[in-house]
This record gives sequence, structure tokens and C-alpha cells, in this order.
Amino acid sequence: MLPRPHNSRRSFLRHSTFAVAAGLVSTLPPALRRGSNRGSRLGGRSATRRGVDPSALRSEGPKDERFWFEVQQAFDIDRSIIHLNNGGVNPSPDTVVRSLRAHYSESNRYPFYAHRGNVASQVEAVRKQLADEFGCDADEIALTRNTSEGMEIVELGVALEPGDEVLTTTHDYPRILAALRQRADREGIVVKEVDVPVPLDDAEAFVRRMEAAMTRRTRLVVMCHLVDLTGQILPVRGVVDAAHRKGIPVLVDGAQTFGQFPFTQRDLGCDFFATSLHKWMMGPQGTGFLYIRRDLIPHVWPLIAPETEDVADIRKFEDVGTQSMAPLLAISDALAFSRSIGIDAKRDRLLQLRGMWHGEIGDHDRVRLQTNLATACSLVTVDVDGIAPIELRNYLWDVHRIRVRPIDDRGVRGIRVSPGIYTSVNDLERFVGVMRQVLRDGLPS
Ligand SMILES: Cc1ncc(COP(=O)(O)O)c(C=O)c1O
Repeated sequence: MLPRPHNSRRSFLRHSTFAVAAGLVSTLPPALRRGSNRGSRLGGRSATRRGVDPSALRSEGPKDERFWFEVQQAFDIDRSIIHLNNGGVNPSPDTVVRSLRAHYSESNRYPFYAHRGNVASQVEAVRKQLADEFGCDADEIALTRNTSEGMEIVELGVALEPGDEVLTTTHDYPRILAALRQRADREGIVVKEVDVPVPLDDAEAFVRRMEAAMTRRTRLVVMCHLVDLTGQILPVRGVVDAAHRKGIPVLVDGAQTFGQFPFTQRDLGCDFFATSLHKWMMGPQGTGFLYIRRDLIPHVWPLIAPETEDVADIRKFEDVGTQSMAPLLAISDALAFSRSIGIDAKRDRLLQLRGMWHGEIGDHDRVRLQTNLATACSLVTVDVDGIAPIELRNYLWDVHRIRVRPIDDRGVRGIRVSPGIYTSVNDLERFVGVMRQVLRDGLPS
């Protein structure tokens, strides 16, 4: 039998009896909460720490089109295409691409620069900036390649015994579920999945069903913050509170949420959180982070055995051998870009862009909405009656160079549309024009 990461599972469980954070109990998704204390130019979390009234940090409201025109100019995206699959990957602004190139060139001019130890102070600065953004301590942030890596570090790295249960949902991401199923096959753990209704109209009922599925054998809850199929934001806080009442830690998949709308670790209350920075933070491709609550770090095995013997050091998850430091270092430029716009303004613009296309075609009697818009942001999935999603995607791309994601999976059917903050009004007018013609005439044979 493998040794335990630090001490026994009993210890892991003892440490996983958490107090419910006072005053934050809510099943409302943070997307809908105004006046978030993060991401404002006034200083976000640190301002709150200094005791500034959070209401002073409210959004400045949607900006005018001249402002967004300037934002659009910051991206080198090919304007002959219309990229409406930003839930896949957002492009990075030019400042990030330039920084990436510069760091990469530097590591070729001075090859020793490729070693992490030689850029340690810069890496620590990135860690601190991410921690400020997420609202935790720098020592709780591990830099990863993406959400998949962060999620699997925890899913595969916590000690579980045959018969132990992990609770998740039918709408968690396939690779994230695959890691749990692998443990079920190899070690005999039990994976329980709670169904997510489409659309999710009653968040409190969903929380109650999650809570009812937690048993004395449940050792971990794994859930996504926003469902990739539908764009639905799940009531993480309600599930976390229910899990903590039973002493169960919660791992949250934040692939689609960090950088899309305002929230902090304290809003979610989760014990583990993994995200990708190449989505809504518009960072370099192949970057992400994993948050682990400080006292749980010793209880998680790294995926790659590190040289360090300090099991309490979050950096043990980063000892993965030689890798390019350039993407890692260019994360700072992405954070700077995002902060200069402000997370509230980003969220407001994404909602505005969503309204520009959905408001035009959403009421058509052939369009079936798969998402509860009240608890969603940019990503929305719509099914067009009588047209297979893959055929519609192919037509939009092959004929009009419009990119959406087709979905026919886990009970959801339709095209997922997700504009980014650099998407123009003209892009959406073109998309709406094509969709109106499809709704009227169907696809050409
Ligand atoms: C909810 C969710 N989880 C995880 C992932 C995987 O992200 P990555 O490929 O960046 O690891 C995605 C990707 O779209 C996602 O939508």
C-alpha cells in the first residue's frame, strides 16, 4: 500500500471538519451580486482588508462603444472570423503576446534562464498577484498548466479507501469525471453523480439534492462552478455550506469563471479551486492555478513526485521538470490588462453582448434555450428545432467563418455561444443576420 501523504486519512478527515464562514451563506451565484470587492481599480480585496466600504467599489456601469473599440484594438484576432467560442479559449491581448515572446527570446539568449530557480522572484510575484485576485494567501496558490491539471492533482492526490465516496454532478467536465472513474476502477472508490436539470431553474432544490446525496462515506465533493455544456452557474456556496456542515471538503472546477465575473475564494468558501488562465483571464495558453486551503496542502500528494520533502509547501505541485517559463511570467501582463478594465466592467460588457444576440433571436419559436439566463454570464446554449447542432456549427463556420461550439452530450443539445470582451457589435449583428436567415429558410441542402 502507498504511504499516506502526511499522516493518516483519519488526519485528513479531522482536518477537513470546517467551520461555516459567517455571513456568506447564499445560493445566489456571485455573478448576480453587485458591488463585488474584487477587481476594481480602487484596489479590490486589499481595499476591503484596509476596511474600505465595499459599496465604494461598485461597477462604473457599461462603458461607451469608443472604450470597447479601444479594447478590441488590443487584440490581434483575425477579424474575418467571428470567434464565439471563448468558453474554449479567449485570445490574449497583444501585451501578453509581446511579453510571452520577450520572455521566450530571453530564455534562448540565456538558456539557463529556462530554469525556474533563475526566475524565482518573478514567479513569486505572479503567485502573489494571482492570490490577490482570488482573495487568498500566496502560499495557497500553485501555478499549473490548466484546470485539468489542478483538478486532477486533488482528485488523484487525496487519500481515499475502497468504498469511500466522492460526490459530483452529471454536468461536470468529462476529463474531471474520468479522473474519478479511474480511481473507482483502480481503487474501488464510489463515484456518485447528482443530475443537473436543463435549464437549472431551482438552485435551492439542486443544493438540497446534493446535500441529500452526501453520506457518512462521502469524503469529497467535486463540482464545477459553471457548466461547460450550458453556461449555467451552479450554486457552489450553498453546496459548500451543506458539505462543511458534514465535514466534507469541496473541490471546485473554476475553468469557466475566473476572470469572467467577480468573486473571491471567500465568496465560494471552497477548500480547493482550479482554473485555467487562457479562458476568461485571457492569459497565455497553457496556464492556470490551483488553490488549496493552507492546512490541507500536506494532505494532497503531487501528481509528479517532487524533490522537496516539505509537504506543506504549495510549490511541491510545481516541481514538474523543465518547462518554458515564458507563459508563466506573462500571466502578470494578463492580470494587468484585466484589472485595467475592471472585473465588474468585464461582466457587464459580456452580459450586454449576450443580450445583443440572444435578445434578437431568443424569442423565435424554433429556438429552445438550454440555459437559465438569470444564473449565467457570457456562455449560453440554444437549440434550433429540427437542425442538428453539428450541422449548424459546420454551416456557420464553413460558409460564414463564425465559430460556435456544437453540443449533443449529457442531455444537452444546441450550439453554445460565448462572446468575449473584444467581440464587436458588428460581429454580433452578422451572427444574428445569419441565424435569422437559418431560422427562416433552414440550412441550404
Ligand atoms: C468546466 C470545465 N472544466 C474543465 C475544463 C478543462 O479546461 P483545460 O482544458 O483548460 O484544462 C473545461 C474546458 O473547457 C471546462 O469548461
